[in-house]
Amino acid sequence: MAQYVIAIDQGTTSSRAIIFDKAGSIVSTGQLEHAQIFPQAGWVEHDPMEIWNNTREVIGQALSKANLTRHDIAAVGITNQRETAVVWDRTTGLPVYNAIVWQDTRTQPIVDRLAADGGVERFKAQVGLPLATYFSGTKIVWILENVEGARAKADAGQLMFGTTDSWVLWNLTGGLEGGVHATDVTNASRTMFMDLETLQWDDDILAAFDVPKSMLPEIRSSSEVYGIVNEHSLLREVPIAGILGDQQAATFGQAAFDQGEAKNTYGTGNFLIFNTGTEIVHSKNGLLTTLGYKLGTDAPHYALEGSIAVTGALVQWLRDNLGMISSSEEIETLAKTVDDNGGAYFVPAFSGLFAPYWRSDARGALVGLTRFVNKGHIARAALEATAFQTREVLDAVNADSGVPLTEIKVDGGMIANNTLMQFQADILGVPVVRPVVAETTALGAAYAAGLAVGFWGSLDELRANWQEDSRWTPQMSEEEKNRQLRNWKKAVTKTFGWVDEDVV
Ligand SMILES: Nc1ncnc2c1ncn2[C@@H]1O[C@H](COP(=O)(O)OP(=O)(O)OP(=O)(O)O)[C@@H](O)[C@H]1O
Ligand SMILES: [Mg+2]
Repeated sequence: MAQYVIAIDQGTTSSRAIIFDKAGSIVSTGQLEHAQIFPQAGWVEHDPMEIWNNTREVIGQALSKANLTRHDIAAVGITNQRETAVVWDRTTGLPVYNAIVWQDTRTQPIVDRLAADGGVERFKAQVGLPLATYFSGTKIVWILENVEGARAKADAGQLMFGTTDSWVLWNLTGGLEGGVHATDVTNASRTMFMDLETLQWDDDILAAFDVPKSMLPEIRSSSEVYGIVNEHSLLREVPIAGILGDQQAATFGQAAFDQGEAKNTYGTGNFLIFNTGTEIVHSKNGLLTTLGYKLGTDAPHYALEGSIAVTGALVQWLRDNLGMISSSEEIETLAKTVDDNGGAYFVPAFSGLFAPYWRSDARGALVGLTRFVNKGHIARAALEATAFQTREVLDAVNADSGVPLTEIKVDGGMIANNTLMQFQADILGVPVVRPVVAETTALGAAYAAGLAVGFWGSLDELRANWQEDSRWTPQMSEEEKNRQLRNWKKAVTKTFGWVDEDVV
């Protein structure tokens, strides 16, 4: 009997393969970073072949570290950076262009063109999303309009589109030799093309975008057998049985299965997901409506989501672009050299502002500067930006749901930062709780796959695996919290409208 499940976490900065046992504990991990390609201001790309090669390699790393073979693995789950668009040729198996990453803003003119008729909320009732550069739809349009020969090939049915889950699935199941072209409802819900009720591609929206349906993957549930791994892989003959976009996977890994449960992930960006059960809730406060998960033929679960584009990425920026620190962890040491932000506020609107503002005309700003401010204050302001942005998203969730959250489950790379987590509890005014297994993204994908093949029997079994590791409780005075929030909101307004005819 196979005792383990493997999850492939194809993320924004790296690809990981993590093997889990039945208790949901990590047995081994493989991980490789891939290049972040920035050809121009606002453009962010990945090489899909590098991603696929890294995926193969990290599977090998995870298996060999634990001294396991495919016979020990009951199923494969896939989770992925969402919205990042890959377009490849079904006759060669090769991408026609680099993957256009979710943070990329090059498609603003396409967004403006589509919004000219009906505004940015033109398709929101059907798909739950405003028109924005963030989602995959306009990225596909950009490739069709700008890559030589792409439009003709697409019209001839020769091109395939997928987010990186589909790209990995197609390759793992054999690629040119019968690869499966599919995605799950959570990833499909980030394209702008899937109807939230029918869970099918919407022909009218596809016509408005001028994207041929023949390019699109089949939409399946998040937990079922999509195919088996091809003979050329170390995992040959193992079923691939779970797919969830990374943020939904983290929600699933946190065992937030029921209506009213939520989690917040602190990675490259931050993503707060609030489970609304089987009901589709449309936000009045700048949140997205998205799929939470769908298990086989069961009814789908929906969610409200507050997406923040830049949180951990600001720490990377201080490291890579300014050289202020040499590793992400160092930001905490630097921040602790001072007692507070010294009056400085850093609004990292590098890709405009996502939730709850959705202002694509915003750009980053560091305000409140005086000669007093030093790099310690800037490090602190950078960390605080994550907490303030999260507070604004939580306010939106509470306003939409009408029932304020009484605590928040967290995960992701930034939660290693104690100073940030304490400040987060202070600014939210509710406890912040971290589980023992912080790799919730991979765990969620493993859970979805394991459920489909009977490795785990029920959601209750998974709930029983969740264990609290640490908890931060609010300590700041009401008055100080409100003063800081007021200043933050003032700082945010300074970023609005920066992009005009002189700045694109
Ligand atoms: N101690 C720390 N303090 C602050 N930020 C940190 C710390 N450690 C890591 N980070 C930040 O966390 C982020 C990485 O977290 P994580 O691996 O969860 O990201 P991710 O978005 O899931 O990436 P991927 O998409 O590649 O999986 C980076 O942006 C990094 O700068
Ligand atoms: Mg991740």
